[in-house]
Amino acid sequence: MPDLTIRAATAPDASALVALQKSIYDEGRWFVGDGPPAVETLGQRLRLLDPARSLYLVAVRGETVAGWLELHRLHPKKLSHVAVLTLAVATPERRRGVAGGLLARAYPWARGVGVTKLQLGVRARNGAARALYEREGFEPEGCERSQVRDEDGFEDNLLMAKFL
Ligand SMILES: CC(C)(COP(=O)(O)OP(=O)(O)OC[C@H]1O[C@@H](n2cnc3c(N)ncnc32)[C@H](O)[C@@H]1OP(=O)(O)O)[C@@H](O)C(=O)NCCC(=O)NCCS
Repeated sequence: MPDLTIRAATAPDASALVALQKSIYDEGRWFVGDGPPAVETLGQRLRLLDPARSLYLVAVRGETVAGWLELHRLHPKKLSHVAVLTLAVATPERRRGVAGGLLARAYPWARGVGVTKLQLGVRARNGAARALYEREGFEPEGCERSQVRDEDGFEDNLLMAKFL
């Protein structure tokens, strides 16, 4: 099996990233949005990314995108030490250290640009993500009760944060 490479995403990655994001949305259990952006939209976003404000990493094994991680600092000056985290790993790549590898690359970037707090929301039934974040030192910050509603009913959205 080829080694895993973790690097900054660039516009030509947009198509593979959207395909991966679509597969994660199709699982139906992890994200709360309606679906991935259009390939052109993501490509444009990646071209215009301000490296002092956002980090967009891709994990690649051979020719295949195995996962990605996004960190975006909040815009108001008084909140700009906070960055919001999103990440996901392709189903066949799970439990091989991909998410851990992405996070290990994200912390130095965050410290380097002055981010001192990483923040995220995770659905209460997402045991894998909660275990990952707990292992990584994220702590509970609060609970948005019955924040998510789908065909399985209501689900809490847990807020977690890690101070760097
Ligand atoms: C959550 C997710 C990102 C984890 O990615 P991953 O690459 O499989 O995670 P890693 O292999 O780096 O795991 C690191 C640690 O997290 C914990 N962990 C990860 N998946 C787990 C699982 N299914 N059950 C229990 N613990 C788990 C373990 O402590 C693991 O260390 P270990 O394998 O040495 O025991 C992945 O399952 C995923 O993409 N899920 C769907 C999308 C998603 O939930 N994104 C996050 C939304 S908030």
